[in-house]
Amino acid sequence: MKRDLLTPMDFTVEELDELFHLAEDIEHHPEKYAHACEGKKLAACFYEPSTRTRLSHETAMLNLGGRTMGFPDGGVSSATKGETVADTARVISCFADICVIRSPKEGAAAVAAHYASIPVINAGDGGHQHPTQTLTDLLTIKSLQGHLDNFTIGLCGDLKFGRTVHSLINALVRYPHVRFIFISPPELRVPDYITEMLEEKAISYEEVTRIEDVIQNLDILYMTRIQKERFFNEEDYVRLKNYYILDEAKLQKAKPDCYVLHPLPRVNEIAVDVDDDPRAAYFRQVQYGVYIRMALILTLLNIQVDPSIPQPSGNI
Ligand code: CP
Repeated sequence: MKRDLLTPMDFTVEELDELFHLAEDIEHHPEKYAHACEGKKLAACFYEPSTRTRLSHETAMLNLGGRTMGFPDGGVSSATKGETVADTARVISCFADICVIRSPKEGAAAVAAHYASIPVINAGDGGHQHPTQTLTDLLTIKSLQGHLDNFTIGLCGDLKFGRTVHSLINALVRYPHVRFIFISPPELRVPDYITEMLEEKAISYEEVTRIEDVIQNLDILYMTRIQKERFFNEEDYVRLKNYYILDEAKLQKAKPDCYVLHPLPRVNEIAVDVDDDPRAAYFRQVQYGVYIRMALILTLLNIQVDPSIPQPSGNI
């Protein structure tokens, strides 16, 4: 049976622990994994723009000794001639060993996974889910804090359309004593299905509009941009785009170990003067994204590398 990653829930907490353990070993001993995917090919099929997710998956496969192919824009694929995601998934299965797909349509990755005979990784489907970003976020939090339980996270910005937020909340509710503070304009509140799910599980959450009112209570501040591409009209976007700007002055009120994360790209919501603050962790987060995607590719391809045995790192 092939295995896909469509939502963070596709892995149990125990399986996620194994993934994080593998990612940590990759971080500290990359040479052991440098040939693990020799002869394997990853197809990156992106119907929506991306810098990190596409290049991070490609870097991950290259670091593992594999090769990559794909398209960075649906406009240069046969989607422009009317080819469906289902047919494309069948075709890619003839070329590659694993496929990563991003689409503006919710559910597109699930369709691809249904028709593909190779593992499919969801690299973001509309405003729905972005599971590899979530794995990145979890590994980053675990590496910075040392644990994934018992902390308060503030999620700030576009909580309505931000798929990274939806995925991260879904994943974090499985860890004990995680408290959520949602910081958003009223128009961009986290969807009702999420607050209903939190209430059903009796998980603590609060909704506020101002960062300044809660920043001192946070262990993690997860900033997000206003998702311009998902607005129905420009006027609403222009009104809301600068609603939040985290700067060094605001961050002064935060705890000394309150880390600032952001899935990136950033627009205006974090001023550049925050970048030099030791709590600014968003560029470290990008690096963790490569380690976790390397671990994910190995896991979905069911490739085991005995971490105790050093692998050759060059031609012998
Ligand atoms: N975080 C993220 O998804 O970035 P990209 O859109 O650049 O892939």
